[in-house]
Amino acid sequence: MTVAQDERKVNDDSERLVEELEDENDIAFVHKKRRRMLPIYACSIVSLSALLILIAVGIAYGVLSWAIPVNQEQLIWDWDNINVKDRYFPEDFLWGTATSAHQVEGYNDNNQWHAFEQGLLWKPESGLPIGDGTVSGKACDHWNLYKKDIQLMKKDLGTNTYRFSIEWSKIEYRKGQYNMSVVQHYHDVIDELLANNISPMVTIHHFTDPLWFVDLGAWEKSENVEHFVSFAKFAFNEYSSKVKLWCTINEPNVYSLAGYTGGGFPPRKNDIPLAMEVMKNFGDGHVAAYRALKQLPNGAESKIGIVHQLGNHDAYNKDSLMDRVITKFANDLSPGIFLSFFSTGIMKFHIPFVVNFNHENKDAINSNDFIGLNYYTRQVEQFTFDSPTLANQYRDRSRNYTDMDWEIYPEGIYRMIKLIDHYNPNIPIIITENGIADAKDRFVKMFYERYLYAVSRAIKEGYNVKGFVAWSLLDNFEWSGGFEPRFGLYHVNYETQERTLKEGSKAFIQAISEWKATHLKA
Ligand code: FCB
Repeated sequence: MTVAQDERKVNDDSERLVEELEDENDIAFVHKKRRRMLPIYACSIVSLSALLILIAVGIAYGVLSWAIPVNQEQLIWDWDNINVKDRYFPEDFLWGTATSAHQVEGYNDNNQWHAFEQGLLWKPESGLPIGDGTVSGKACDHWNLYKKDIQLMKKDLGTNTYRFSIEWSKIEYRKGQYNMSVVQHYHDVIDELLANNISPMVTIHHFTDPLWFVDLGAWEKSENVEHFVSFAKFAFNEYSSKVKLWCTINEPNVYSLAGYTGGGFPPRKNDIPLAMEVMKNFGDGHVAAYRALKQLPNGAESKIGIVHQLGNHDAYNKDSLMDRVITKFANDLSPGIFLSFFSTGIMKFHIPFVVNFNHENKDAINSNDFIGLNYYTRQVEQFTFDSPTLANQYRDRSRNYTDMDWEIYPEGIYRMIKLIDHYNPNIPIIITENGIADAKDRFVKMFYERYLYAVSRAIKEGYNVKGFVAWSLLDNFEWSGGFEPRFGLYHVNYETQERTLKEGSKAFIQAISEWKATHLKA
């Protein structure tokens, strides 16, 4: 190799080396760059995935929120532009007032409410059993004053039905033993009503149980249902030649929930499975009584039904999944549990991990000649972690509330009529209770005008509403609320037993007189 050739080779080698070095540098640079970019790529991927997950969760939440059925959409009418006098009630419409024995009669000392009031049976952990410290005592002395009270119905109000309960603990004072003078008393009441052209509507069970029945475990035990059925048969045999309207049981949902889920009713237990058991036994009790009474003389032509207090539950924020979830559970429990029982024969209630209740009684289908609707208010449900039930009942203070702090929401009775009809198409419905506690008589007039308008609107749309019974004829002993809440069309002075018509009650009387005038003309 020449020197020149040598030099060229060296040059070539060094050029290659330089190229190689440059390549390596490039690669190193690229690697370095890649290493630097890596977190940025990773971040973008994470953010993108997070975004996608968020979008997916958002969509799922939205879909789920809408998929969680709420019974019915909320309804708010523009009352300023509604003529509440634009109303119609059919000729055979029932107009009445309601009471229950323990709340008005007085001298009930053989049932669980009496014991509860005295603190004898169940001592509440704290506070008084009855909110205002009262006991039912002689109440409105309706036991003695019933004739005068029937005159109020006839002369002042012009009503044609009276819903009242017969006190099981007075009639069957011991198991299988009947007090015939008490039996006669209710004959006298019924005869007095008939003599005044007022149809008696008898409730067989309105919250009170005889003490002997309580000793047996009351409604907690399915084997006790037969005792109720046998009392129902006794009463029916006694009075059904004169009484054509029968309510088997008043508000089994209220008895069960207020007594067994921490409410203010005896036995003040807090036991959800037991509450379900009690509801089941009431449901079966109604079905068994209905079937038994229908077989007795006068059964076929009598109208026999159960009475429920049903309120709407509305989601506070209808776009919130959690508000909708708790609203759904509340609606499933009431009104759902009994309405579906009577339409399908299945009583069920599920909250994942909390309650899984299922009961079937196919005899429940078609076991009502009518459904009695007690309607008072609705609940607006708002999810919260601050309450053990995870629900707060929201109150919109721009709206009107009664002394019970219940919203005045007449649209709700219209919705409830439609809902009952949805479960049991075309079933006759009697409004067996509707009324207001309003000691200062601020809203009574407006209350009756609007509620009657709402009922009439449902009638005009073809719903089968047969009657309207106001709660209550008299101010009375409002269970755990004592004498403080005043639901009466008449104010009662408990010292003198004087009854005074409340000014606002005239709206109820006015509706009845208009109805009479309409059908007299026709
Ligand atoms: C209903 C009851 C009735 C009366 C009203 C206000 O739940 O049936 O006795 O207490 O509420």
